[in-house]
Amino acid sequence: MNILVTGGAGYIGSHTCVEAIKAGHAVTVFDNLCNASAESLNRVAAITGTRPDFIQADLLDRAAVKAAFDAKAYDAVIHFAGLKAVGESVAKPWEYYNNNIVGSLNLFAEMRDHGVFNLVFSSSATVYGNPEKVPLAEGAPLSALNPYGRTKLWIEDMLRDMAAAEPRWHIVLLRYFNPVGAHESGLIGEDPGGIPNNLMPYITQVAVGRLKELSIFGDDYPTRDGTCIRDYIHVCDLAEGHLCALASLDKLQGCTPVNLGTGNGFTVLELVRSFEKAVGRPLPRRIAPRRPGDAVASYADATRAAALLGWKAKRGIDAICRDAWNWQSKNPRGYRP
Ligand code: NAD
Ligand code: UD1
Repeated sequence: MNILVTGGAGYIGSHTCVEAIKAGHAVTVFDNLCNASAESLNRVAAITGTRPDFIQADLLDRAAVKAAFDAKAYDAVIHFAGLKAVGESVAKPWEYYNNNIVGSLNLFAEMRDHGVFNLVFSSSATVYGNPEKVPLAEGAPLSALNPYGRTKLWIEDMLRDMAAAEPRWHIVLLRYFNPVGAHESGLIGEDPGGIPNNLMPYITQVAVGRLKELSIFGDDYPTRDGTCIRDYIHVCDLAEGHLCALASLDKLQGCTPVNLGTGNGFTVLELVRSFEKAVGRPLPRRIAPRRPGDAVASYADATRAAALLGWKAKRGIDAICRDAWNWQSKNPRGYRP
């Protein structure tokens, strides 16, 4: 297939480009590099032997989006491009609504105008808000706790309405749980700008000496060791999930939400200990107050992904930690030289 990958230079996008090229697809990346480096695409080329075509442009630039579709006939689009930092979205809601919503609308309009009705969209477990019960199945109540979450929820709503109005759409909404880890080559991985907000990049940057100490946000939750529970999914499993979604689009008419998670929850301390095992030494860490807004537990009911996409996560927490450390230790400053 000829695939357009928006946000393909980013963390999950670059891993998905590798899997898509390996599966024999022709990949074009559309990315404005606002949160990525073109070096990630050099690395994709080093892993696969094939360089994806690259359009450096902004989804907010409607003419550039149109030009991308005028230039090539795509069979499907995987839409990763968006801003994703929860705290930043609270501080800059307009930027998040503009970039994520208007950017997506431009993309969907040009897809429709060019007769491209196959779409895989990056949604998030954030659309489940603060879960009432776990595991979370796709029918669980939806809500948003912040502007970032609202952009995911609204884009899901827009896509449901579009699919209801126009039966030619085949859309899969992939709701990711907690993507972590890196490609086993150590050539591509997560490279957040500034101080990381999320647990795994914080851990890896403490391990490599860029940050002094890990704060564990709360150890008095009602869980087996008092720390929060999440469903950590290896980014290569996640990438493979996108390929399974692409292959299933034909039979999935309309708009179908599918969780991409392992179905297993691990506590913060379990993840940290597994990472310490991978590194072979303890990390400097302390217990800190709870982070406002954190859910006690969030993990997927992953049965729909198996039933509809034939997909299941294969890699466990040890592989996650080994690969995250392999990436960070080989690239202490990420993609920067
Ligand atoms: P990322 O920031 O590494 O990748 C996003 C990419 O989109 C970047 O390369 C950025 O430069 C590009 N981009 C942003 N706005 C753009 C625009 N207007 N025009 C063109 N390119 C633009 O993030 P990621 O972790 O790879 O996440 C990919 C997608 O998955 C996002 O939509 C994110 O919300 C979603 N998601 C991520 C996680 C996670 O924990 N990483 C969890 C759930 C959902
Ligand atoms: C984050 C996002 C959420 C997104 C999800 C999936 C925030 C507030 N929420 O949630 O919108 O859908 O990722 O990618 O960013 N922790 C520490 N110390 C740290 C960092 C985190 O103890 O330095 C703990 C947190 O309290 C939490 C767990 O680690 O219990 C995981 O945190 P994080 O990686 O930020 O992911 P989520 O909270 O699941």
